[in-house]
Amino acid sequence: MTLEDQIDKERLPRHLAVIMDGNGRWAKQKGLFRSMGHENGTKAVREIVEACAKLPIPYLTLYAFSTENWNRPKLEVDTLMRLLVSSLKKEIKTLTDNNIKLNAIGNLDSLPKKAHRELMDVIERTKSNSRMTLTLALSYGSREEITKTIKEISLKVKNNLISPSNIDESVINNHLYTRDLPDVDLLIRTSGEERISNFLLWQIAYAELYFTETLWPDYRKEHLYEAILNYQNRERRFGKTSEQL
Ligand code: FPP
Repeated sequence: MTLEDQIDKERLPRHLAVIMDGNGRWAKQKGLFRSMGHENGTKAVREIVEACAKLPIPYLTLYAFSTENWNRPKLEVDTLMRLLVSSLKKEIKTLTDNNIKLNAIGNLDSLPKKAHRELMDVIERTKSNSRMTLTLALSYGSREEITKTIKEISLKVKNNLISPSNIDESVINNHLYTRDLPDVDLLIRTSGEERISNFLLWQIAYAELYFTETLWPDYRKEHLYEAILNYQNRERRFGKTSEQL
């Protein structure tokens, strides 16, 4: 039985989030420029997106560029933005063929004009697709998202649009970039690093965390199936006891 066949299709994670790490180290190991790591990373993106759509996993969120990534050398930032534009141009057909809706979270206004325009175009052209929502976290940082949320809610309080006693978790959820997405069920990070790096801090409150040594450019659908099988062998208690479940 293949790994894919062993997966229980009734118990798939509804929302899978991935920290795609290790592009630089992959390139270094091969004596290549870091940009080659990112280029090969886009191949892994394509394979994982297709595999998720096929299962299907209804929500897939990829950490493509963090607020902190702006501090990388300009050449590398330019490469990542160029890859974003070329991938969007190239993959619009894959998205359409697989009925995938593209979404983006983060401080999108800080993206270069060309990348912003291309992104908005693909979001518009795929907005009626319904099999899977693929969210790219771009210029995304969880602390920035939470700060923005607090500012917006404070302003509503100041303008008497909401009373402080009515602020609950759903009000906060509705102000996050992820307002249209469910909580994360499974978070995967590649490359052996075991940290969250300012990604979806609020949304992973009850997520299962899965870390793998595989570097992102080497990540293939079999690795994804292993992670899902591992997830399906865990007991998610959400604060309750085993007996209560
Ligand atoms: C982390 O590897 C990866 C990134 C900062 C960018 C991820 C981007 C891609 C996979 C390609 C473009 C994506 C899309 C959606 C078109 P790293 O550079 O931090 O690796 P290192 O830790 O080994 O240096």
